[in-house]
Amino acid sequence: MDGARSPEQAPGQSAAEYPGQPAELFPEQLPDLFPQLFGEPSRQPSRQPSLGQPPGPSLGQAQRQRAEPAPGVVLLPDWLSPAEQREMVAACREWARPPAGMRTVRLPRGGVMSVRMVCLGWHWYPYGYARTVVDGDGAPVKPFPPELVELARRALADAYGTTAGGTGEREIVGAAGYAPDVAVINHYPHGAKMGLHRDREERVDAPVVSLSLGDTCVFRLGNTETRTRPWTDLELRSGDLLVFGGPARFAYHGVVRTLPGTADPGLGLVGRLNLTLRQSGLG
Ligand code: SIN
Ligand code: MN
Repeated sequence: MDGARSPEQAPGQSAAEYPGQPAELFPEQLPDLFPQLFGEPSRQPSRQPSLGQPPGPSLGQAQRQRAEPAPGVVLLPDWLSPAEQREMVAACREWARPPAGMRTVRLPRGGVMSVRMVCLGWHWYPYGYARTVVDGDGAPVKPFPPELVELARRALADAYGTTAGGTGEREIVGAAGYAPDVAVINHYPHGAKMGLHRDREERVDAPVVSLSLGDTCVFRLGNTETRTRPWTDLELRSGDLLVFGGPARFAYHGVVRTLPGTADPGLGLVGRLNLTLRQSGLG
């Protein structure tokens, strides 16, 4: 949103966006996560029904309906089929490989994010975009695949399309003609979380498309003004689509916790993956 900021700007020039309790949010001792992300499918029993089966009541049956928790925010449960989820996990594994692979993100004030991240199209770093991994191995970021453009457009059509009482796609700035060119892919190992922040390095107001894979999480949707209440906690499960645009595009949001072991073992993923697809406006 800050149009004055250069995509090549050195890190550390804007206010910290991931505040809170550094020791808790950003543990200094990170486990080696590659065996988890690249590991064989777990044989542990899932704490939640298998993909494709109706969810049990214990994790919030009521929320498994389409929901619009705030104007411009749409949650579509089970939007990705089990097969699509497996394909997406496999694709993320490839994108996570070096060069320009999955990395640990260090913050300007010395904290370390507990998620690990890989980007496509443009490389996000705290706090800007670059074409190379300026805070990692320096390699050119992997291209943004055309399939993700199509997927993101389908996501917006499904989220904002003509629904009774729903927000119309035409009322959401940047939804028509959506041209995403950034994917930020976060892997949450057990215990990882993400403090409340806004996605504001993009230069246009087009919506953010968010896809969840693996373990269930508690996603906190805040307001556009402050990091404090009011907020709404949403449960995001594997395959869920969340879109935030229009009046909610620059809302604070974060991940309070993940629920370890809730992923279907057949997905072959330990922890949680989240992809946000965005339009950078960087041209
Ligand atoms: C993010 O805010 O970039 C990620 C949100 C999520 O993991 O659901
Ligand atoms: Mn975000």
